[in-house]
Amino acid sequence: MSELTGKVAIVTGAAQGLGVGIAHALRAAGARLALVDINGDGLAAAAEEAAGREPGSVEQFVTDLADADQVHRLPERVIERFGALDILVNNAGVRSISPFLVQSPAQWRATLDVNLTAPYLLCQAAIPHMIERGGGKIVNITSTAATLGFKNRSAYNVSKAGLTMLTKSIALELAGSGINCNAVAPGVVRTPLNSSYFDDAEFTRVIVENTPAETWGSPADIGSAVRFLCGPAADFVNGAELLVDGGWCTGKGY
Ligand SMILES: NC(=O)c1ccc[n+]([C@@H]2O[C@H](COP(=O)([O-])OP(=O)(O)OC[C@H]3O[C@@H](n4cnc5c(N)ncnc54)[C@H](O)[C@@H]3O)[C@@H](O)[C@H]2O)c1
Repeated sequence: MSELTGKVAIVTGAAQGLGVGIAHALRAAGARLALVDINGDGLAAAAEEAAGREPGSVEQFVTDLADADQVHRLPERVIERFGALDILVNNAGVRSISPFLVQSPAQWRATLDVNLTAPYLLCQAAIPHMIERGGGKIVNITSTAATLGFKNRSAYNVSKAGLTMLTKSIALELAGSGINCNAVAPGVVRTPLNSSYFDDAEFTRVIVENTPAETWGSPADIGSAVRFLCGPAADFVNGAELLVDGGWCTGKGY
């Protein structure tokens, strides 16, 4: 028996990157998983790997999180399959890079739709089921960009700052119903989101200079923080944002 045995968790953006690290951490803690992504092929591979020798423990839900109807129906679909819903991890995210003055309304909306509106809709649809179960845990994956903006990423910065405040708002209103809603704010993590920088010496220099840990984070680093917030050890943690950034936000290193 591990701390999440008997729990059912939704993890969005689970086809690659941080979602895979989070899925592995929650599976290792005993949770059954509803893995969600728009990329069906990636999701199938990730689900097979996360399930290991227990295929029934992980299901795939191919979903476009920018489509409000699909998002709204997702908790019901998960409950039809697993009979319960205890944990929601809003991890899926997109990031367009564009100077503010030329950023199009379409780019702005596309970022906000996936990074902020989808978590809002999913929380609203999932929480009543969690309350029926006596409570639940929600973890929103924000970013250091929620507090320290990055140039040419205004929509992304705003979406993550909004998600931080959504986290606090839900915690404030629903703590009395047994809902814990917290955020994990990763620093720079080596995932496909950042693949264009893998061989970029200048970017690597910036990471090393700004991160006291002097390195990229890994999906497993984020997974273990999410696992903690989903478990009973974090029952008295609510509305918090846990930085997992190797110290990036502690200050300038010069
Ligand atoms: N990697 C980092 O350095 C870093 C740092 C801070 C925060 N984050 C955040 O962590 C989360 C995961 O990042 P990642 O690095 O794993 O990114 P990634 O691009 O590697 O993976 C994101 C996943 O989300 C899915 N997705 C995107 N749009 C979707 C949609 N409309 N419907 C369903 N699924 C969709 C993608 O298919 C993909 O599988 C994001 O919210 C990101 O903003 C990442």
